[in-house]
Amino acid sequence: MSTTLVVVGSQWGDEGKGKITDYFASHADMVVRYQGGNNAGHSVAFGGKKYSLQSIPSGIFNPQTINVMGNGMVVNPVSVIAELRKLSDQGITEHNLYISTRAAMVMPWHSALDGAYEANLGKALIGTTKKGIGPCYADKYSRIGMRIGDLLEPEYFRMRLEAALAVKNPEMKMLGLPEMDADEIYNQYMEIAEQLKDRIVDTSDLINKHLQGEGNILFEGAQGMMLCIDHGTYPYVTSSTPSAASVPVGAGIAPQWIKTVAGVLKAYCTRVGEGPFPTELHDEIGDGIRERGHEYGTVTGRPRRVGWLDCCVAKYTSRLSGITNWAVTLLDVLSGIDTLRICYAYELDGKVIECPPSTIAALERCKPLYVEMPGWKEDITAVRKYEDLPENARKYLEKVEEITGVPVGLVSVGPDREQTFITSPELKKFAK
Ligand code: IMP
Repeated sequence: MSTTLVVVGSQWGDEGKGKITDYFASHADMVVRYQGGNNAGHSVAFGGKKYSLQSIPSGIFNPQTINVMGNGMVVNPVSVIAELRKLSDQGITEHNLYISTRAAMVMPWHSALDGAYEANLGKALIGTTKKGIGPCYADKYSRIGMRIGDLLEPEYFRMRLEAALAVKNPEMKMLGLPEMDADEIYNQYMEIAEQLKDRIVDTSDLINKHLQGEGNILFEGAQGMMLCIDHGTYPYVTSSTPSAASVPVGAGIAPQWIKTVAGVLKAYCTRVGEGPFPTELHDEIGDGIRERGHEYGTVTGRPRRVGWLDCCVAKYTSRLSGITNWAVTLLDVLSGIDTLRICYAYELDGKVIECPPSTIAALERCKPLYVEMPGWKEDITAVRKYEDLPENARKYLEKVEEITGVPVGLVSVGPDREQTFITSPELKKFAK
């Protein structure tokens, strides 16, 4: 029978999901992305080289692994072609990749509108990646969106394009943006169709056939659950649901297939863009973490905001996704800090609460309550066994388990594939 593993981000994104997915991908026949688009920046390092992916699943480095961009994604075909070209230039030339006919397609007006909305929001701006993610999802739900499968049907594509532009061009004019030309877009996208046509299939069918066989399937989340459109820090969120709950819809499978969920948890917190961040650091400890952790956006290059590990957030996101194990990343970045802090609860209006409140106004009033933990001095990047971690590093991880009630199943002590070790039998069956 098939096994499935879901890898999700448990904070505000950038937790190292790409690395964790790549680690498990060598054992997976299939890696599926089920939400988001090229707003993600997944970094993978092995053999002394670094790679970065935006929309392509992190299983692409294993030629025997089928990589699927599921129907729940917003796919920018121009970006897919550019990513494939970049991989080829870096020596990754076999691309086992399929894209769902049902995936929403990012069109040129989406990124133009993303930028214009942000500019008009003034102080209320979200700080998006300006990749057109929100406007594309909005068009999908307004039913004026275009889908990847439309590339296979030139006449239908043309009809949908004209219908969309009849709505979008007046909006762009109103916002002071140049109107777009149907002929130009049609010609550009038909050229793209020629390059991608063999990869565009009914991926729900493909995934379900695998599930009926003996396949091991890995579902790769993008962003983190605090950026969830429903359960995150709205409106400072992305436009999809990064949790395991969106796998069935975004991949086209039944929910009972989801059993094991690895929540990728960075050993501290970061966030890019605007929005509340209770444990944010504005001092040299935060600056040190940013530099040692190379906390600059893979997609936008923006410096990330840095803070202490927030287990209020971790408890909340484990509840939302049914996380069975933490995959703790970037533990090595905390080496050398004398005293570490972990947030275990918030104080809100004189009361102690254990989960983030559901409104932004209340979250902005929350004060983090910390437990202090002694740090460790040793460089741990060469450690390959839990027992070989310094005692205080083990105590730090055990405190996370105690506060959240979720066991640590994997620890990552550096960007390379090799700098990873599994600590739970549950995750062992998904590793090489
Ligand atoms: P959007 O997804 O481009 O609409 O951006 C919405 C918010 O999500 C912004 O705060 C972005 O910085 C954030 N965001 C989107 N993708 C990622 C990601 O992969 N990592 C971290 N933050 C992200």
